[in-house]
Amino acid sequence: MNGNTSFDVVVIGSGPGGYVAAIRAAQLGFKTACIEKDSTLGGTCLNVGCIPSKALLYSSEMFHFLQKDGKTHGIEISDLRVEFSQMMKRKQEVVTGFTQGVAGLFKKNNVERITGTARLLSPNEIEVTKDGQTQKIQARYTILATGSEPIALPFLPFDEKIVLSSTGALSLPKIPKKLIVVGAGVIGVELASVYSRLGTQVVVVEMLDYICPMMDQTIRKTLLQTLKKQGLEFYLGAKVTGAEVGKEQVAVYVEHEGKKLTFDADNVLVAVGRRPYSKGLGLQDVGVQVSPRGFVEVNQDLQTNIPSIYAIGDLIDGAMLAHRASEEGIAAVEKLAGLHPHVNYMAIPNVIYTHPEVAAVGLTEQEAKDAQLKLQIGSCLFKANSRARCIGDTDGLVKIIGEANTGRLIGMHIIGPNASEMIGEGVIAIEKKATISDIAYASHAHPTLSEAIKEAALNALGHAIHF
Ligand code: NAI
Repeated sequence: MNGNTSFDVVVIGSGPGGYVAAIRAAQLGFKTACIEKDSTLGGTCLNVGCIPSKALLYSSEMFHFLQKDGKTHGIEISDLRVEFSQMMKRKQEVVTGFTQGVAGLFKKNNVERITGTARLLSPNEIEVTKDGQTQKIQARYTILATGSEPIALPFLPFDEKIVLSSTGALSLPKIPKKLIVVGAGVIGVELASVYSRLGTQVVVVEMLDYICPMMDQTIRKTLLQTLKKQGLEFYLGAKVTGAEVGKEQVAVYVEHEGKKLTFDADNVLVAVGRRPYSKGLGLQDVGVQVSPRGFVEVNQDLQTNIPSIYAIGDLIDGAMLAHRASEEGIAAVEKLAGLHPHVNYMAIPNVIYTHPEVAAVGLTEQEAKDAQLKLQIGSCLFKANSRARCIGDTDGLVKIIGEANTGRLIGMHIIGPNASEMIGEGVIAIEKKATISDIAYASHAHPTLSEAIKEAALNALGHAIHF
């Protein structure tokens, strides 16, 4: 246990919300500690989420590209095969690099790292337990950043061997021959993509009639078509009614279009959402208000009903995104320092790292219509984009939504190559209240994929050049 017991700011949880909050707090001159129960820093995102999944998505995409399109590009490899253990080893090295990197950043910024499980004792006192030993810490302010955990289905509890959460699916010892994915949200389609590219027969079972509910309708329809083209099998509007889990296999029972179906597989990935994680945190003991769905309730300054306690990230309601948590972490501590931070939730991008990638910022067309706004919509298919044709990656489109009275951009939706990087233009445009016209008349380098954004803006104005 550590010597220091009294801090200005104590952050509980070291994910992208917590570690960023702790570093910023220290930069602002607060004596800061970050308490983490796990042996490595970085939380879900760095250890078992964003980072390892993106490492595997990239490796599997390279393999798939060479296998499917290598010949077209004049690249032939005679013995192309997957060495799965090496792919996993590399993924782990990427993760370790980052988690050690955060430890280094803590040292550099004078953030005290405390390893153990934190429990609130009072508005200014925290108990930390590690290996049966406890330590009491005084905190002028506490930032709760304990994140979220995967939701299990009652008849499919996670064993991480056969019945997997995203954590287990990112650390499988071998490539499954057959995989059932329950839930076609972001985790479902990303991990289904990884294994499908590596040769697994993947069946995705989704309760709704469409995939990726948070995305714009045009985009999610295009994504479904392209994923089907890649060989993924989808059962939409389907209900998982039960399962039988054996030692090596699982049978999943599904009702679909009035028929009872049974899917046998080596593994089932349950990706039906995540819920806030606050187990053992002592919220009730201290009287921190929690919503019926388990989210800690906060005001616009991210402050709970207990004035010295703040909460950020997946623990509070909103899109469960690493970068949102980071923005909130910074905002919470800057507020404590007397600054005037502001998180613009309209300008927080949302990305799905399938191929093609999906990226969005602002309102979907449906959300804008529900808000009864007068819209100005334009789009551009990547088929009409010269760079997309040069690289042979023409599936997808850019869709731009403006508010007709002001001309301002209120939504940008991209499905296509490098969508995750391109969405930055939409983020800045929304953040800076740019108009569709600003985008349409800004010069975009030729030939680039981002010209599709300019062209979609021109299309919204009624004078696209290239189609
Ligand atoms: P999700 O909320 O994105 O999707 C869950 C899906 O499961 C929905 O389509 C839902 O209709 C479906 N579903 C729910 N119950 C079902 C049932 N009984 N049978 C069949 N389908 C069912 O949740 P997901 O994919 O688990 O991700 C959790 C969170 O993690 C999300 O909020 C997401 O934002 C975040 N995340 C973000 C990533 C990114 O930014 N690229 C990557 C991975 C996760």
